[in-house]
Amino acid sequence: MAEHESLEFGKADFVLLDTVSMEEFMANLKLRFEKGRIYSYIGEVVVSVNPYRAMNIYGRDTIEQYKGRELYERPPHLFAIADAAYKAMKRRNKDTCIVISGESGAGKTEASKYIMQYIAAITNPNQRAEVERVKNMLLKSNCVLEAFGNAKTNRNDNSSRFGKYMDINFDFKGDPIGGHINNYLLEKSRVIFQQEGERSFHSFYQLLSGAPDSLLHSLHIKKDPKAYTYIKIGGQIKTSINDNADFKAVADAMKVIGFTGDEIQTVYKILATILHLGNLTFGVDGDVTLIENTKQVSVIRDLLSTKEENVEKALLYRTVATGRDVIEKQHTTQEASYGRDALAKAMYERLFCWIVGRINDIIEVKNYDARIHGKNTVIGVLDIYGFEIFQNNSFEQFCINYCNEKLQQLFIQLVLKQEQEEYQREGIPWKHIDYFNNQIIVDLVEQQHKGIFSILDEACMNVGKVTDEVFLQGLDVKLAKHAHFSSRKLSPTDKSLEFDRDFRIRHYAGDVAYSVVGFIDKNKDTLFQDFKRLLYNSSNPVLKGMWPEGKLRITEVTKRPLTAATLFKNSMILLVENLASKEPYYVRCIKPNDVKSPLLFEHERCRHQVEYLGLLENVRVRRAGFAYRQTYPRFLQRYKMISEFTWPNHDLPSDKEAVKKLLQGCRFDHDVAYGKTKVFIRTPRTLFSLEEQRAEMVQRIILFLQKVWRGALARRRYRRMRAALIILQAYRRYKVKSYIREVNRRFKNVQSMKDYGRHVKWPTPPKVLRVFSSWIFLDASFRWWAWTLIKGLSPEETLQVRAKVACLEALKSQRADLGLQRDWEGNYLKRDSPDTASSFTLISSMLQRKDKFMRVLFSCNVRKINRFHKTENRAVLITDRHLYKMDPLRQYKPMKSIPLYNVTGMSISSGKDQLVVFHTKDSRDLVVCLQGMVPANESRIGELVGTLLSHFKRLKRKLQVNIASPIQCSMNGRKCTIIVEPKINQSQPDFTKSRSGYILNVPGN
Ligand SMILES: Nc1ncnc2c1ncn2[C@@H]1O[C@H](COP(=O)(O)OP(=O)(O)OP(=O)(O)O)[C@@H](O)[C@H]1O
Ligand SMILES: [Mg+2]
Repeated sequence: MAEHESLEFGKADFVLLDTVSMEEFMANLKLRFEKGRIYSYIGEVVVSVNPYRAMNIYGRDTIEQYKGRELYERPPHLFAIADAAYKAMKRRNKDTCIVISGESGAGKTEASKYIMQYIAAITNPNQRAEVERVKNMLLKSNCVLEAFGNAKTNRNDNSSRFGKYMDINFDFKGDPIGGHINNYLLEKSRVIFQQEGERSFHSFYQLLSGAPDSLLHSLHIKKDPKAYTYIKIGGQIKTSINDNADFKAVADAMKVIGFTGDEIQTVYKILATILHLGNLTFGVDGDVTLIENTKQVSVIRDLLSTKEENVEKALLYRTVATGRDVIEKQHTTQEASYGRDALAKAMYERLFCWIVGRINDIIEVKNYDARIHGKNTVIGVLDIYGFEIFQNNSFEQFCINYCNEKLQQLFIQLVLKQEQEEYQREGIPWKHIDYFNNQIIVDLVEQQHKGIFSILDEACMNVGKVTDEVFLQGLDVKLAKHAHFSSRKLSPTDKSLEFDRDFRIRHYAGDVAYSVVGFIDKNKDTLFQDFKRLLYNSSNPVLKGMWPEGKLRITEVTKRPLTAATLFKNSMILLVENLASKEPYYVRCIKPNDVKSPLLFEHERCRHQVEYLGLLENVRVRRAGFAYRQTYPRFLQRYKMISEFTWPNHDLPSDKEAVKKLLQGCRFDHDVAYGKTKVFIRTPRTLFSLEEQRAEMVQRIILFLQKVWRGALARRRYRRMRAALIILQAYRRYKVKSYIREVNRRFKNVQSMKDYGRHVKWPTPPKVLRVFSSWIFLDASFRWWAWTLIKGLSPEETLQVRAKVACLEALKSQRADLGLQRDWEGNYLKRDSPDTASSFTLISSMLQRKDKFMRVLFSCNVRKINRFHKTENRAVLITDRHLYKMDPLRQYKPMKSIPLYNVTGMSISSGKDQLVVFHTKDSRDLVVCLQGMVPANESRIGELVGTLLSHFKRLKRKLQVNIASPIQCSMNGRKCTIIVEPKINQSQPDFTKSRSGYILNVPGN
């Protein structure tokens, strides 16, 4: 069964119909056609419905989908059957054939071309030039054969008017190496006559439409088809065919195939001769028959390269041998016309056969030695007319329908045989299958002495009267008792048959009435010997070569030529023998309507064809035993998810056991048989039930697979991330270690360095350490470095460092010069005024004794505001207990002392001035400006602030330090502000009264 197609498109295989009835068959066929599914199967037979529209199903991508696949793995398609035939040929070394049948316009030729195209596409992967050449020839030969063998009919614009069987030969590698074409029963009557609405063979119109003027001129013809009796009916028909372009394509194809220039010219000459022959008319003068338009004769002579009088003689006389004498018998005008038409038809038929022969010469396998090159295998493609039933059925239809009887017979035999063989192989008991055996009809036609063909031949050879009626009488006598034959004489009540004209055959496909009119003539197919000799005696070697029998003199021609019926019968027997020796594949084509519509499905029409093609019979035979069979592994592969014993893998001894277990589980055991390698399922319902269960399970499996796969993806992602993390960590560790190693190396000897490694540059830390490095390493190193520096300091130095740190903490970036670079001596009055230093020391010692201070924190000369708002020189001494105001002019006599615990804060400006305000608890702030420094521009504010802050800190007391401008203070309980203003020409700082307090003018420039 074809898979991958949902049931909405109907059943892809007719074998799976619920019941085998015409109604069900037709409903399924119609549904599939309407859904655009033009191909279906009956087992391994492809049923194809002509879509009458371009289908996008023959491209490279579709070819790839079918290449190497099994038949049931993809939806039904011609490619599937082509591949099956190719595989059988390549894998099993079997000769195979594809039989394409169906009525005119059903799509046989198109199908054969798609099959060839598929085979060409999948072979010769190594692009061997010779194989490519052969493939090209095989494909190109189609174009030439269609030009000469196809015509526009009322049923098909490109109807093949001959049967074609083409063998493609393959080497052991499966590449095409040549081919051979057999043609059957060309409808040559078309050369001289066509039905209304039909044309003669394409070649004539192509020549007239496409040939260059010079060629037309040399052939003595003109572009107008209406000028030629034989083709003038068809010449007026408008068609979609582009004769002009086709002429060039055919000429090119002939060149590519290898026709010589002379050969091609001869082909054109023959076509032109036929056209001219058609225009010949005969008349009588007394008792002499003559040609009325003698000018035509010289044209014909020219085209045939023979003598003019020979042409005329051949047309008007017939040479007859009576014993040893040879006499020339003049034709009547009727005989002359008959002869002329017979010549035209024969020349065309011979031309066609010669073309096929030439193509065969060229594509034939050459230099192939099976001992060296391996077995040469063959795929045959048969594109042959299907069953025909017209209003008036004549000799041609009889032959064609006989051919179909034979093919159907072969088909049923082979399918049955295959079926039987398969059952035998698989060890399944064979049940007799009832089917319509049409051997009886085949015999009715072809049997020696008793068959219709024999009776016809006998009638033709009759010494007395030779007429169609005589032939019918012969039939009536000899076949009177035959169950499949009747005539009006045998069943007088049957008014559908005419007396002395019709006979009816009960074909497997239905009853067909034939009219005997023309049977004798068509069977005899007489061509007077004179014409054969005329053509043989041409000086054109190509033409001469086409008529070798013309060599015989009249006295040498003893045997009657074989009749058309015998020739056809022989060729059919050969064909069937040939096909029977091969593994056959079938394509059955159906034409959905008569108007070439892609939408219309004419029920009755199609039903007819289904009947004629014996498709129901086909389904019945195929289903006779079992509707479906499959090898155990394949079956398991498709259905193993249905059973817990087989999913995902079974542990039974064999696949056969597993399939048994599976089917038992589903309770289908009664409907199946177990062969050696295959399981056979009797009814399609079982299969559908299996399919349904499978479809349900597949959904779950998909979900399960998705789950597992998603899990797998997540786990994979996790593992990758983890791996990345481990790598990352290892790398980081490595970077940190290298960094630490480098730090270690650089700082190893810092202790012994003069600056304790202050100059050593830190290496650039890795990214991971960048955040830490500043405070862990740098900070720690600074701390260590500072600690190393301060651990060797004296107590005095320690105090100084503490004071500087306190200063820095309080004033950093708030005042410019903090004096950090110099030594902080503190007790400057000793140094700045050496003259009065001794007095100060004396007073200082006195105060120490009196107030018991431990140490002098700071001393310095200052400017100060007095009670009268005047500025006067004073000095300040700050010990660890008091702040003394002293008068330098009176040997530093202490004027006022403020206990240090009364001091709450200090205010300074952010400028360079040396103004400082000591805030006291009692709001009697002391406002001074340090002065008299040596050197003069030394700034001591930083030192004063730092020293006091450090001292207060040690006492765990708070000292508020304000940096402000103007400075707010409280003098004797009165709030006032002090503004610092630099002033040019100011030699020393001076306070002047302002409205809100005081202005300190400092030297400025
Ligand atoms: N598969 C197809 N896809 C599209 N169009 C198709 C297909 N098959 C057939 N046709 C159309 O149907 C027309 C007739 O097909 P084709 O010539 O193959 O018929 P046939 O069976 O060979 O008839 P005949 O017996 O008269 O030679 C084609 O010219 C084409 O237009
Ligand atoms: Mg055809």
